[in-house]
Amino acid sequence: MRAIYLVGFMGSGKSTFGKKLADGLGIAFYDLDQVIESKAGITIPQLFQEWGEIRFREYEAEVLRSFVKEDKDFVLACGGGTPCFHDSMDWMNAHGYTFFIDTPFAETEERLKGTEANRPVLKALRQGKNDDSLHQLYIKRREIYLQAASILGPESLNVNEVIHMLNS
Ligand code: S3P
Repeated sequence: MRAIYLVGFMGSGKSTFGKKLADGLGIAFYDLDQVIESKAGITIPQLFQEWGEIRFREYEAEVLRSFVKEDKDFVLACGGGTPCFHDSMDWMNAHGYTFFIDTPFAETEERLKGTEANRPVLKALRQGKNDDSLHQLYIKRREIYLQAASILGPESLNVNEVIHMLNS
C-alpha cells in the first residue's frame, strides 16, 4: 500500500499539488477537510462552532487514522492543523510517506486573503481571539511540518520530479 500525506500551512497549496501528484501516480486523491465534512454532514466552520476545536481535533485524528485501514493507495492533503495535534505527524511518518509543502509566508498570507469564512482558525486569529498572530502560528507549526520525510519548497514543487523520486 502506498500512503502519501501532504502537510503544510493553510493556503500552502496542498490540495492543488496533491491532486496533480495523485493523477501522475494514477492513485486516489483525498482532501482530509472534505472527507471530514462529508462524514460529519456539516462544514468545518460549523464543526468548530458546534463542537469546538478540541472535539474537532479528536475527530480529525480519528478520520486520518481510518485511511490506512482501507487497503488502497492514496495521496491525502491534510488540514493545516492536522499534524500539530494528537501526535499525528509521528503517526503519518510511521504509516506512510510525508511531504511538507513549504510555501513562503508572504505567498501563503496573500492566498488566505478573504478566506476567513471557510477557515475558523484564520478567522479567530484575525479577530484576535488567539494568543498568536498568523505569522507566529506559521513559525510554530513549521517546526512540526519540518519533521516530514521530504520538504518541497517553491523550487522543488515539481510533480514529475517528485514522482521520479518516489519511484526510484
Ligand atoms: C485548519 C486548516 C484547515 C481546516 C481547519 C483547521 C488549521 O485546512 O482543517 O479549518 O488549523 O490550520 P486548510 O489547511 O486546508 O485550510
